[in-house]
Amino acid sequence: MKKILLTVLAAGCLTFAWGGDRTLTVTARYLNLPVARQADRRQMTFHIDGRPERSFVIRLSAKPDYWVFCDMSEYLGKTLRIHFDGSPAGLDHIYGDNQIAGADSLYREANRPQWHFTTRRGWTNDPNGLLYYDGEYHLFYQHNPYESEWENMHWGHAVSADLIHWEELPDALYPDRHGTVFSGSTVVDYENTAGFNRATTPAIVAAYTADSPERQVQCIAYSLDKGRTWTRYDGNPVINSKEQWNSKDTRDPRIFRYAPSNHWVMVLNERNGHSIYTSADLKHWQYESHITGFWECPDLFELPVDGNPRNTRRVMYGASGTYLIGRFDGRQFIPESGKHRYTTGAFYAAQTVANMPDDDDRRIQIAWGRIAHGDMPFNGIMLLPTELSLRTTKEGIKLFSNPVKEIDRLQSSGHRADHLTVEQANRFLEPFKNIDALRIKARLRLSHATDAGLRLHGQPILTYDMNFNTVNGVFYSPEEPTSMELSVDILIDKTSVEVFVDDGAYSFSLQREIRPRHRDGLQFWGNRPEILSIEVYEMASIWNR
Ligand code: FRU
Repeated sequence: MKKILLTVLAAGCLTFAWGGDRTLTVTARYLNLPVARQADRRQMTFHIDGRPERSFVIRLSAKPDYWVFCDMSEYLGKTLRIHFDGSPAGLDHIYGDNQIAGADSLYREANRPQWHFTTRRGWTNDPNGLLYYDGEYHLFYQHNPYESEWENMHWGHAVSADLIHWEELPDALYPDRHGTVFSGSTVVDYENTAGFNRATTPAIVAAYTADSPERQVQCIAYSLDKGRTWTRYDGNPVINSKEQWNSKDTRDPRIFRYAPSNHWVMVLNERNGHSIYTSADLKHWQYESHITGFWECPDLFELPVDGNPRNTRRVMYGASGTYLIGRFDGRQFIPESGKHRYTTGAFYAAQTVANMPDDDDRRIQIAWGRIAHGDMPFNGIMLLPTELSLRTTKEGIKLFSNPVKEIDRLQSSGHRADHLTVEQANRFLEPFKNIDALRIKARLRLSHATDAGLRLHGQPILTYDMNFNTVNGVFYSPEEPTSMELSVDILIDKTSVEVFVDDGAYSFSLQREIRPRHRDGLQFWGNRPEILSIEVYEMASIWNR
């Protein structure tokens, strides 16, 4: 016991004695930093010309498992002093370069998804501030640039012209004196209500949560250069509701314009549900109402029912995607339905795209896929963008989601067959055995047994059971309750599978086994189900640059 105590004390003293500095001139765009999974997280601070500028925790190590990087463009030519609180051995290995370490194999790493967005280095969770503006879709996202696990939240940034091919840009928002940068949303302030606009350039305004050990507060920042650089509002925070809720859990502001009364609305998750706040200028917010039963990452938006613009409803959801349908008067959400769900699995913290192009009235959603990437220098994934719609069903109005049509552009010409037995279908699928990027559309009918499905290298990716009425273990009743048929749209990438059932009535997403026991590709199973039709497409990589 004594010995253990002494060792602990010694380790403590050693740690205390550690720490070191290294001074260099910034001459290249990137600073490459070596990290090891087993090293302790310790504080690193960059002092530029004597001023502390960036501070974060990192598992710096002289024996790295992988490398991460910092974009130093804004400090070129300046003197940088790096202070590190842990073992200083790794400091000597940090190097500046105009390439990130591993650039030669970027997007070709062993477990790199080929047609989903993943960040170059580090950890990703929620999509943030999804927005279309002036020819670009913006995907901001929760990003830890310094490790493939959650920490040090920044807003990462990527842009796309088509929602499918993404270009990762430098991080958009760094932690500041209010804390790290948690989830939030963006709007374009066309009417200059906040006074941030310059001449004819409207500001993109972001609302996000600043997280610190003591509190979570809501802040705003704005950009006048298409989201590339951001200025914090000097009156931050704009909402501090910790006392009101006697809770630190107040986060993830979703802001939008409420057209009928021309004011801003914020839906904010606070302790046990979503609150509504309103504002004339994005800076001063008034509390209006609260609805319990939701956790994290709110969204609230209007959709036509069955495509009829004169009959609309509002959809309110939380991080898991369970939702309510109701009405909204600009200050209060009034539910009209019980809670439903349209998707399960890896899906989390989804958000819909704001400010869609004028000629495009789709409501498009992107979710974080909670998918692990093993020993890769990156982690987390954005699930494919989906188009949401409200449709009248026998159980009332429900939310449907389907992959956006843009992904069709990645498809090869395709192969199709009809009316196959399981054996015939498996022979048909044989040539695609070693392909990691596939889309399969199939319709199957049960006949002599209660269940059937599809496996990928031995892993069940679809299990339909009409005795228990489940798809992959989750209750599912088709619109035609006596139907024995199921149609599926299956999207397979290196680490993920997404399955859309019956034209988006239900969907699920799952992690692929990284080291499967079998290598036998796609195999249908079941007692004589009929594969009424099957189409297979190979998907092109979005990273062919
Ligand atoms: C959801 C979430 C948010 C929070 C963010 C922090 O995944 O917990 O509530 O803002 O992640 O990264």
